[in-house]
Amino acid sequence: MEWTSLNDLREAYLKFFESKGCLRKKSYSLVPQNDNSLLLIVAGMAPLKPYFTGQEVPPRTRMTTCQKCIRTGDIENVGKTARHGTYFEMLGNFSFGDYFKKEALPWAWELLTSPKYFAMDKDKLYITVYTHDEETYNIWLSLGVKPSHLIKLDTNFWEIGPGPSGPDTEIFYDRGEKYDKQKRGISMLQNEEENDRYIEIWNNVLSQFNATEGLSREEYPELPHKNIDTGMGVERMACILQETETNYETDLFMPIMHKIEEICNIPYNGQMQFK
Ligand code: SER
Repeated sequence: MEWTSLNDLREAYLKFFESKGCLRKKSYSLVPQNDNSLLLIVAGMAPLKPYFTGQEVPPRTRMTTCQKCIRTGDIENVGKTARHGTYFEMLGNFSFGDYFKKEALPWAWELLTSPKYFAMDKDKLYITVYTHDEETYNIWLSLGVKPSHLIKLDTNFWEIGPGPSGPDTEIFYDRGEKYDKQKRGISMLQNEEENDRYIEIWNNVLSQFNATEGLSREEYPELPHKNIDTGMGVERMACILQETETNYETDLFMPIMHKIEEICNIPYNGQMQFK
């Protein structure tokens, strides 16, 4: 794993998915258009909902974006964890009835671990899988992920308001015992406890149902086609690649911090909870 600037990592991601046939589009507005279910855009998939549901024809059935987001549901965590921000950017690759998990998951693994790209240590990656999704579990095994690094969870199902939804598989990076003073290890992932040791860097949603108000998950109708919706928080990934304690010590924020240090003549000593 090499130190990578936030701008370089954004470009590497988008270029990688262009090489897989995805159309690169600029970020859509933060203000949802024709979607009364959301106050603000909370994920890369949100402006693309009509393509997932088949209501509109996409410019291409494969796309990649870096979307401006404000995740209203996470606001309470800002300032408390290493990895939440008010505003953030989400890298994503999307398939509208085109490629599915047999392509998307090997590509995610390739981008993260190949020496040509982010060259992350495989032993530091842990992956959660929806309990009933054996196929996804087996794809990860076939890529060489150890069973001890795969965690089945009943809650791995992604939805946000009505619309495209489905089982998901989330990739976490283990920052080690420095961020786990009580040495609780992967029980924190198994029990879904708030922690800053295992950082979720990439969510791959196997988007195939239409979440519908008044229906239980088991009753959601299937979408006309199977889709892929993925999201990687750019600032989180920069924090991992740059080995900083929080998102705020990356090259995105540090130039601003240095200017503040200079103006105030007070050194920045990091964040107290990580000392
Ligand atoms: N929609 C999913 C998420 O936001 C993946 O992009 O986590």
